[in-house]
Amino acid sequence: MPDIQQKITIAIDGYSSCGKSTLAKDLASRLDYIHIDSGAMYRAVAFYILQHQIDIDDITAVNAALGQIDISFQYVSTEVHTFLNGADIENDIRSIAVSNLVSPVAAISTVRRALVTQQRMMGRNKGIVMDGRDIGTVVFTNAELKLFITASLEERIKRRTLDLKSKGLEATSEEIERSIVDRDRIDSTRSDSPLRKADDAVVIDNTQLSREQQLEVAYHLALIKIEQNIR
Ligand code: CDP
Repeated sequence: MPDIQQKITIAIDGYSSCGKSTLAKDLASRLDYIHIDSGAMYRAVAFYILQHQIDIDDITAVNAALGQIDISFQYVSTEVHTFLNGADIENDIRSIAVSNLVSPVAAISTVRRALVTQQRMMGRNKGIVMDGRDIGTVVFTNAELKLFITASLEERIKRRTLDLKSKGLEATSEEIERSIVDRDRIDSTRSDSPLRKADDAVVIDNTQLSREQQLEVAYHLALIKIEQNIR
């Protein structure tokens, strides 16, 4: 058994709604690491832009907004919630309106630069599991473990539907499908930090895996990397 006090960095990337955040949260909790859902940070920026009716083609206005945005993660009982300028926005950022705006917002280079700087700060002491689209390819290129998660579109729609329902948010299955497909297309084709598998990432297709099974696979891979890292 490796000394799991030796902390590593774990990057988890993949397509929309394939369970990255669930896996990242479970893995971080098993290893006693910090979990950061980087997507929540892009969603927080999109939420602010929506709330203040900022035109995303007006780069001066977007850059000015970035100066007004303070994102943090705080515990609310046993759950970590996303906060924007002191307000709990955890449920607001999961709405379909935010989902439809987030990919165009995340394609803006100044937005990415601001958030990547904060993400690197959060990971400076290792012991972190961060999930997103560019974690293994841009944010933590030296991460000891990189995972790339995939699942069938059908399964992803099913999971997102359940997820929204559990949060009391409404969306039709057509809206959810369109949102997932559009986001994947925009995220994969943008010029700055497009979603792609890092060359050294391990692919996990979790279509047929339960939450516990995917955790076992990832935890096993993490232990191997922790062991290699202390040699
Ligand atoms: O809905 P899902 O959990 O799959 O996505 P998310 O992780 O909440 O991310 C929302 C959106 O933020 C993505 O569709 C990307 O446009 C953007 N994102 C990004 O560009 N880079 C990241 N590291 C994380 C998210």
